[in-house]
Amino acid sequence: MPPLWPSRGSLSLTLSPWLSVVFALALFALACDQAASTRPTAATPPPALVTDLTPAHFAAGTAADVAPVDNALTEARAQLGKRLFFDKNLSRTGEVSCGTCHAPDHAFSDPSPISTGVEERTGTRNAPALVNLAWGDSFFWDGRVRTLEEQAGKPIENPVEMDLPVTEAAARVAADPTYAKSFDDAYFGPATEESLRKALASFVRTLVSGDSPYDRHLRGDEEEFGDAERRGEDLFLSEKAACFHCHPAGRLTDEGFFNNGTYVDGGDPGRQTVTGRTGDLGKFKVPGLRNVAASAPYMHDGSLATLEEVVDQYARGGRGSPWTDPQIRPLTLSDDEKLDLLAFLRSLTDPVFLVDPRFRP
Ligand code: HEC
Ligand code: HEC
Repeated sequence: MPPLWPSRGSLSLTLSPWLSVVFALALFALACDQAASTRPTAATPPPALVTDLTPAHFAAGTAADVAPVDNALTEARAQLGKRLFFDKNLSRTGEVSCGTCHAPDHAFSDPSPISTGVEERTGTRNAPALVNLAWGDSFFWDGRVRTLEEQAGKPIENPVEMDLPVTEAAARVAADPTYAKSFDDAYFGPATEESLRKALASFVRTLVSGDSPYDRHLRGDEEEFGDAERRGEDLFLSEKAACFHCHPAGRLTDEGFFNNGTYVDGGDPGRQTVTGRTGDLGKFKVPGLRNVAASAPYMHDGSLATLEEVVDQYARGGRGSPWTDPQIRPLTLSDDEKLDLLAFLRSLTDPVFLVDPRFRP
């Protein structure tokens, strides 16, 4: 009876042409696979961070137009800044990055009233949303710094935040070979304290949110701006609620400092620590409100958990401190009017900004 299977020798003879075809095909597939995996990085750069998107009714110019001349906004700088923003190695213990307290899901704010830095240390203020700051005049709740470049070094050094001298942070980054090319492309040399701060500021400048239903409404697209939103906007801009005195239409911040009735005796003196003026007690920078529904809790101390609480506090005319701005006074708002104001505040949410993969690590 002939063997069921050919002997080993004849098998290899019979199969070897097939094997070589299979081998060749495998090689070909591998080559294609390699080409496919190298191609996106080589030929397709990551989606651009620097764009022309501008929120409706903002001062003329894109984020790049308003960047300082000594730190022109380029794609290379913004991409480098983004990597640094999410790099925990910029903190002494390697536990905390900028993104720890400024979470993309929360419009780059912190859902805790007060943020936690290295070794569970806590500060005293709420981490604000980072939105449309390219057009800002001053930064921090008390406006103590004038540029995003200066700002970027402060949390790195702050003992309750990242607790690392900026020069040391720059030295760490300079020692990391995976950063070398990006720094060279962006700032034509190795990482320094200055280029580190400039790169971080460049990324923050690209956090532009300009596509909320409110922005669209200002551009004439009413599709998502319904009756409640329209009534809320009218109220916001009326003397009855008087919100626009400090949150003017379009920009929604006049970049000024006011005591909006959140301050209570013995609390955070706010702007007064910067100017030393008695009249500045309890004043804080007017926030721009874009994406406010995503950046709870509210105010400099994170003391209000919801937008309902914010509207109620304004309706009461603040917490009763004699230092409260005279423009803050008890309002007579019906429950329906409060709901309309809330609908307007929620129309400031830009859903694309909140999930934009360009702004994530
Ligand atoms: C431990 C939490 C924490 C970390 C880490 C942190 N921040 Fe902040 N950030 C805050 C808090 C709190 C404030 C408000 C502080 C104040 O007003 O005094 C703030 C304010 C800011 C502001 C000002 C916003 C405005 O509207 O004026 C910017 C910009 C900012 N941070 C960027 C950064 C960058 C860039 C990094 C990383 C280098 C960073 N932050 C790291 C908590 C943090
Ligand atoms: C006198 C100026 C002024 C007026 C009027 C005013 N605001 Fe404000 N608003 C501020 C200031 C200043 C802050 C920040 C205060 C703080 O942190 O203690 C603020 C904070 C807020 C916040 C919280 C934002 C955040 O990110 O924490 C919301 C929401 C808000 N205002 C909505 C309104 C509405 C709605 C009205 C009208 C009913 C109004 N504001 C009227 C000055 C004002």
